[in-house]
Amino acid sequence: MTKTDSAQAMRTKSPASEKVTLTFDENGQQKSYHLPLLTGNLGPKVIDIRDLYAKTGYFTYDPGFTSTASCDSAITYIDGENGILLHRGYRIEDLAEHCDFLEVAYLLLHKELPTQKQFEDYHHEISLHTLLHEQLINFYKGFRRDAHPMAIMVGVVGALSAFYHDSLDLHNPYQRELASTRLIAKIPSMAAIAYKYSIGHPFMYPHNKLKYAENFLHMMFAVPSYEYQVNPVLAKAMNRILVLHADHEQNASTSTVRLASSSGANPFACIAAGIASLWGPAHGGANEAVLNMLTEIGDKSRIPEFIKRAKDKNDPFRLMGFGHRVYKNYDPRAQVLRKSCHEVLQELGIKDEPLLGIALELEKIALDDPYFIEKKLFPNVDFYSGIILKAMGIPTSMFTVLFAVARTIGWVAQWREMIEDPIQKIGRPRQRYVGHEQRNFMPLNQR
Ligand code: SDX
Repeated sequence: MTKTDSAQAMRTKSPASEKVTLTFDENGQQKSYHLPLLTGNLGPKVIDIRDLYAKTGYFTYDPGFTSTASCDSAITYIDGENGILLHRGYRIEDLAEHCDFLEVAYLLLHKELPTQKQFEDYHHEISLHTLLHEQLINFYKGFRRDAHPMAIMVGVVGALSAFYHDSLDLHNPYQRELASTRLIAKIPSMAAIAYKYSIGHPFMYPHNKLKYAENFLHMMFAVPSYEYQVNPVLAKAMNRILVLHADHEQNASTSTVRLASSSGANPFACIAAGIASLWGPAHGGANEAVLNMLTEIGDKSRIPEFIKRAKDKNDPFRLMGFGHRVYKNYDPRAQVLRKSCHEVLQELGIKDEPLLGIALELEKIALDDPYFIEKKLFPNVDFYSGIILKAMGIPTSMFTVLFAVARTIGWVAQWREMIEDPIQKIGRPRQRYVGHEQRNFMPLNQR
């Protein structure tokens, strides 16, 4: 049993005695309010402001939530200053090196790494749900062939709630478990069909004897007319990419899933909302944006021009794959992927991959540039993933879909943690109102 393996257990552990005092002048009178200071197992303490408005009539103000903890969680811990990422206490480097993706899925959902038997049973359980309802497949045919696969994924994942009525009640533990299993099992099949549809290929059914990453590659690249052998090096690289993207604390898409679910929306609709949020180029869409940027740079000689643009306040251009809200030294996932990059390219006999050459030169120049050093901008997880995926033959438009396949386990684990947390309630932030004061209405014929 770990020190504390649930948000609730942690809460009863925190010493309620610690407090901070907020003092301010009000109509010439000095007022003080004591706010509880709560301690987690790791990371910064938190000032409990839940009663602040009731006590003081004031809101806090934190656009982008740079200083706000939205919940208790025991799933993932990030130390941005030291480049540390833990899932249920285990280092991401160890998980990426040694675990199958479903081992990590089991860990995130059930709080402990599985035994061999538990892993085999879980793999079997997932394999019972990898197929889609045949009618759901008709949804794909309603899209144009050139539809972005993320647009398709938002649509078809949300549509799961129109088919699986026996796993919509998020207050029923059995239905929560069934919805979790269905989402984790079906998301690779749904992603691969989106790709096959875009290239006019027949859809491939999952082969349940294959491991999760192998099965995904099989559904992406096999065709009915001949036996497809999954390249073990590519399967290992794909497995590593899935593990590295599995969960990442309260990022934009995970917070979207939590907020959507806080209203009681069904799990399929909430995961579809997470996919929509992940699509943005500032978030999961960055891997696709990195490849597009490297292609636009086109040659090492043009890198200084793009670095200059990235530093120009009047130019909205940003160096895709650089920077992170939390990591201010390096993203440990980028370190692992950098190594994987070379392994995959070597295995595929790809020498002097031009985009990799530009990426390595860009990384070198950027990390020596005072602007990037001062702003603490380092390559993040998206900087290298796109190069590996491109080398594996995955089209750029599918990069963020792959991120969504991996992050589904994180979204599901966070969604379940939130529902099982007794203090969670509907998310409803307030605002600082900067609009008109009340004014008289003017009928149309007098305006
Ligand atoms: C992911 O949250 C997560 O955990 C996300 C993720 C996950 O696993 O879920 O890790 C996955 O989304 C990784 C990030 C992928 N996005 C990109 O690579 C897009 C490029 N990066 C930037 O858009 C930006 O760095 C963000 C969005 C990632 C972080 O934005 P922040 O923390 O809000 O940083 P900021 O916008 O406040 O920037 C701080 C300063 C600014 O300059 P000043 O206003 O202080 O003068 O750094 C500059 C920014 O202009 N800056 C950049 C930059 N990123 C930040 N300048 C040039 N190029 C960049 N990439």
